[in-house]
Amino acid sequence: MGFWDKKRVWIIGASSGIGEGLVNILAENGARQLISARNNSKLAELKTNFPKAEIVVLPVDVELLSELTTKVEEAWQFFGGLDYVFLNAGMSVRDLVTESKLEVERKIMDINFWGPVAITKALLKKRNAETALHLVLTSSLSGKYGVPKLAAYSASKHAMQGYFDSLRAETFATGLFIHVVIPGFIKTNITVTGLRGDGSRSGKMQNALAEGMESSDCAKGILKGLEKGKEEFAVGGAERFTLGLNRFSPG
Ligand SMILES: NC(=O)c1ccc[n+]([C@@H]2O[C@H](COP(=O)([O-])OP(=O)(O)OC[C@H]3O[C@@H](n4cnc5c(N)ncnc54)[C@H](OP(=O)(O)O)[C@@H]3O)[C@@H](O)[C@H]2O)c1
Repeated sequence: MGFWDKKRVWIIGASSGIGEGLVNILAENGARQLISARNNSKLAELKTNFPKAEIVVLPVDVELLSELTTKVEEAWQFFGGLDYVFLNAGMSVRDLVTESKLEVERKIMDINFWGPVAITKALLKKRNAETALHLVLTSSLSGKYGVPKLAAYSASKHAMQGYFDSLRAETFATGLFIHVVIPGFIKTNITVTGLRGDGSRSGKMQNALAEGMESSDCAKGILKGLEKGKEEFAVGGAERFTLGLNRFSPG
């Protein structure tokens, strides 16, 4: 029996990119999956690709913070608990601080930070201390250092990092496991569907991502890291070495 066989997994942000890559591999490895995002038809299509796998579609919009406790209740019921929850939904905004509206920056914080926090709070209430629960957060290199034109996105990932590092320290040895994944440049549509500072859709793929790692390879790297029980790990190309470089030379 493989590591993921029969594991009860909830992937939030499953409809494209890295999340879709995770769904594909987990379906081939016997996991029982709950898949969530806003695009219901894309999730349904994903499910039909794997008629033999156990996949349940649960549409979720993580920006609707007041609905997330009910979504967690629903999610918990499907398989009578959860083993791994991937808090992977994310949105980018790319613009200068002077060009970015506060309401757009708050939207990014809601999706990338407050959504995962609200889901986690509800999960902690459902959790049975006897059984392990693994939370997998998708952070970013910009969760470790600031990047021009990514102030709000970078802030949301820094906030995620600080919050979940603190929660890990609070819950040490309680059966709650927090894993933070730091993807490098991954070839997904995150910058295409992402926003400009005025809230309009960017529609443009950033060059670094177009030349980045395939999302299926990133998903493979994430699952490998989790199988090894890593708490925090980077997945991507040479850009991941900027983490070490930044520590010695922040400029
Ligand atoms: N690509 C990279 O280079 C890179 C690097 C570092 C970190 N990341 C992080 O990786 C994660 C996945 O992104 P990706 O690169 O795979 O991009 P992606 O293909 O755009 O995937 C983003 C996922 O998040 C979901 N999502 C967005 N807003 C949502 C909302 N309000 N409610 C629920 N789901 C929502 C999207 O689904 P719907 O649109 O259907 O809702 C989609 O499934 C994000 O957290 C991102 O910040 C990506």
